[in-house]
Amino acid sequence: MAKFREYNPKELDLKDKHHLLLSSVAPRPIGFTTSISKDGHINLAPFSFHNAFSSNPPVVGISSAFSGRTGEAKNTLTNILDTKEFTLSVVTFDIVEQMNICAAEFGPDVDEFKKSGLTKHVSKIVSTPGVAESPLIMECKFTQHVQFSDQPAGGNLLLGEIVYFHAKDESLNESGKIDPSKVDQVARMGYNWYSRANRGLFELTAPRHIPIGVDNLPQLVREHPSFTGKLLARLASVEKIPEQDIIEDLIKTYSRLSAEDMLKICAVLVEEGRILEAWQVLYLAKII
Ligand SMILES: Cc1cc2nc3c(=O)[nH]c(=O)nc-3n(C[C@H](O)[C@H](O)[C@H](O)COP(=O)(O)O)c2cc1C
Repeated sequence: MAKFREYNPKELDLKDKHHLLLSSVAPRPIGFTTSISKDGHINLAPFSFHNAFSSNPPVVGISSAFSGRTGEAKNTLTNILDTKEFTLSVVTFDIVEQMNICAAEFGPDVDEFKKSGLTKHVSKIVSTPGVAESPLIMECKFTQHVQFSDQPAGGNLLLGEIVYFHAKDESLNESGKIDPSKVDQVARMGYNWYSRANRGLFELTAPRHIPIGVDNLPQLVREHPSFTGKLLARLASVEKIPEQDIIEDLIKTYSRLSAEDMLKICAVLVEEGRILEAWQVLYLAKII
């Protein structure tokens, strides 16, 4: 049995709680947020407590915490509550160090575009600009505020409906779809770690049918040490157990092996993505 360390958040100090959360919910996309104060000052700051919450209407959110040090509201929170709009720009590897400058505690009248050397991209609908160096910008109208506490580091979820999208030509493929290898997004992890998304890209097609599920695999397979959870999931992703098929090559190659060896072969076939053949080996082994 794997050993786990256990932590009760109620018994942890703020710093430890913060780092456990940040390391557990990772990688997090970064919403690089432009907002405007009621007296017209532009503000830019990164927020990795950020996600999308609805496609229809398209809703995104960031959470701006009260400062962990002073308990004060951050400029972004004050601005969005006052002027009810913001833009989110995707942070890429090229601009991550400029983004980092914008995370410093500048006063409310300091324009972080100037401090970071980033450029404003004029919005179509809202009056706050996006970041021109970013490949994807969302213009948002503020809709809801959820305050989790009034304590230092207490979060304020700010939700907004996207009223306009901007996608840079150079981040699209030939068919006009956003190409993740061109976007070069970065994400925030725990402590000072970031992740560069396009260095770890892989594709996984969403299920198109109801899979039979691991619980419907033969017990011998489920309990065999060659089958990791990943391999079981692959084998169990078929819509129904395939019919037996007489595949001469398989019979010639494997029929003299023991059932135990056939199970190992089956696992190798699954690993190679040869799912239908893997099922046929289970027939040969008389496991189904
Ligand atoms: C990558 C990154 C992600 C951050 N995410 C958050 C966040 O989700 N919530 C938050 O309150 N502060 C976050 N911060 C810190 C704010 O960016 C920082 O407090 C900033 O000064 C706020 O600026 P403002 O006062 O202009 O709003 C993050 C900083 C970095 C570098």
